[in-house]
Amino acid sequence: MEQAKLIFRDKEYLLPVHEGSEGEVALDISQLRAQSGAVTYDPGYGNTGACKSSITFIDGDKGILHYRGYPIEELAEKSSFIEVSYLLIHGHLPTVQELEKYKHELVHHSLLHEDMKKMFEGIPSTAHPMGTLATLVAALGAFYDDTTKKSDIDANCIRLMAKMKTIAAFTYKRCIGQPYVYPNNKLSYTADLIHMMYKVPSDQFEVSPLIEEVLDKVLILHADHEQNCSTSTVRMAGSSHANLFATVAAGVGALWGALHGGANQEVLEMLEMIKNDNCDYKKYVNLAKDKNSDFKLMGFGHRVYKNFDPRAKILKASCDKVLAKLGVNDPLLEIAMNLERVALEDPYFVERKLYPNVDFYSGIIYKAIGLPVNMFTVMFALGRVPGWLAQWKEMREEAGQRISRPRQIYTGAVNQKYVPIEQR
Ligand code: COA
Repeated sequence: MEQAKLIFRDKEYLLPVHEGSEGEVALDISQLRAQSGAVTYDPGYGNTGACKSSITFIDGDKGILHYRGYPIEELAEKSSFIEVSYLLIHGHLPTVQELEKYKHELVHHSLLHEDMKKMFEGIPSTAHPMGTLATLVAALGAFYDDTTKKSDIDANCIRLMAKMKTIAAFTYKRCIGQPYVYPNNKLSYTADLIHMMYKVPSDQFEVSPLIEEVLDKVLILHADHEQNCSTSTVRMAGSSHANLFATVAAGVGALWGALHGGANQEVLEMLEMIKNDNCDYKKYVNLAKDKNSDFKLMGFGHRVYKNFDPRAKILKASCDKVLAKLGVNDPLLEIAMNLERVALEDPYFVERKLYPNVDFYSGIIYKAIGLPVNMFTVMFALGRVPGWLAQWKEMREEAGQRISRPRQIYTGAVNQKYVPIEQR
């Protein structure tokens, strides 16, 4: 095996070298502390490989994203969200029989226990939908056993996929004060999601094929993104053998943040702010460039993609199609297009490779199809469930899996002597 040599305080250490199937190279420092007393320091884990994984490959410099070896462009064009979720969780594309069985199971687990409905009533209808989602996902753990038996693991993965869709739709209905609409077993996963959110019980309702197609694509594009913040959270929480529902609820919490899944909501709030400021987008572009200001253009830039975000490229085409077909005329969308143009031309953004990311276009699509802004991150969470489940399963099935437990460099006070309270 290839080895790297590290010289530290005049001593040499040999570090094993690992190479991935796409040529990625890693130096193995797992024994370094035991051998040398030193740990590695990498805040934000930008240079740390926390696991070996066969699920998703990203080359951020080239703008490449593969799920199980299949290019995202091909999956977005030819596959469906449900087929992609099977691919991620089970590792191969399903046969006709496997896909039929999987769909059947998803449909038959999409109802929520009636007692869960009462839990929605205990949460203020003004609560952020991500808080409600995290609460209800964690609560599933009170309704279903979680053991390490393979049959339980498979059943709970199905339950999470199926029931999160219903939880998301009920959360939305509760926010807008409408009665819940129950799942319809005859509809596809994505059509049923649209039906449960947009149907008013007294009205006839037809799911728009255009909206179904676009939303399905959005879900595919969000399905996994290797060791991002929420997925790492899921792996870390799950590494203690916490139950699957609590583990995924932790992922929902991490996704909620503005620098992660919450960015799609922030994009629309930023556009709203610019609209209310006479649509003066140039002022905000300048503010984003000003090092004395902490304002950032939300929906621009990415930790990994430094060329372009392949998901954003696919979604831009869908975004253009939706806006043209729905004939949407909204000043927010005009501001978005102006920001996109400036960012692609202005040297500040070009030099730093700050392209519009997936959250920029998904936010615009959600707005165009009439989703309230605070539901945007919930849609991201629904899309990310297969990735969380696949990564969790991979971690739990790994031989010799250990609890995640990073080290630190302590920088606090030393040798303090306790002073009784009356003497302080
Ligand atoms: N607007 C303006 N400037 C930005 C920027 C943005 N959205 N994103 C990054 N920059 C600038 C930084 O200020 C920095 O400039 P400097 O080199 O002059 O100091 C440079 O670009 C590099 O950014 P950095 O913060 O090192 O990138 P990162 O990898 O740590 O952060 C993000 C990546 C995604 C967190 C960051 O780009 C961001 O906050 N974007 C907005 C939020 C967003 O859309 N998140 C969703 C991601 S899918």
